[in-house]
Amino acid sequence: MKKLMVALALLGGSTFATDGASIFKAKGCASCHQPTADTVGPSLKKIAQAYVGKEAELVKFLKGQADPIVDPPKFAIMKPQLTLIKNLSDEEFQALADYIMSFK
Ligand code: HEC
Repeated sequence: MKKLMVALALLGGSTFATDGASIFKAKGCASCHQPTADTVGPSLKKIAQAYVGKEAELVKFLKGQADPIVDPPKFAIMKPQLTLIKNLSDEEFQALADYIMSFK
């Protein structure tokens, strides 16, 4: 039984690590980004549509290595959010980008 619990705990951990939706919620991104309505930030749909065919650029933006393309005048609000995710693994950045792209 104890072994099973440990196995489940490990499984839970790895699921979190690669689940973009969980990262998005855990890092508070959802408070400014709704699926289809623009609120403080642009909707996930709007972001995904801007990055169609440019998924690699989205990963770079999340890593703080590319300029914004959706609403650059408001980047001052978004910029500090990037520091919350700067320690994610490559796999987690990819999962986050995949999650955002699923709204296109
Ligand atoms: C305080 C509100 C706020 C929070 C929290 C927030 N964002 Fe944003 N986000 C914005 C605003 C405003 C913009 C529009 C400016 C821009 O395009 O960079 C934006 C833009 C974006 C863009 C589009 C970038 C582009 O190319 O223009 C992405 C992707 C994004 N946010 C992802 C995230 C992620 C991931 C998180 C969580 C770590 C997050 N945001 C948290 C406000 C927020």
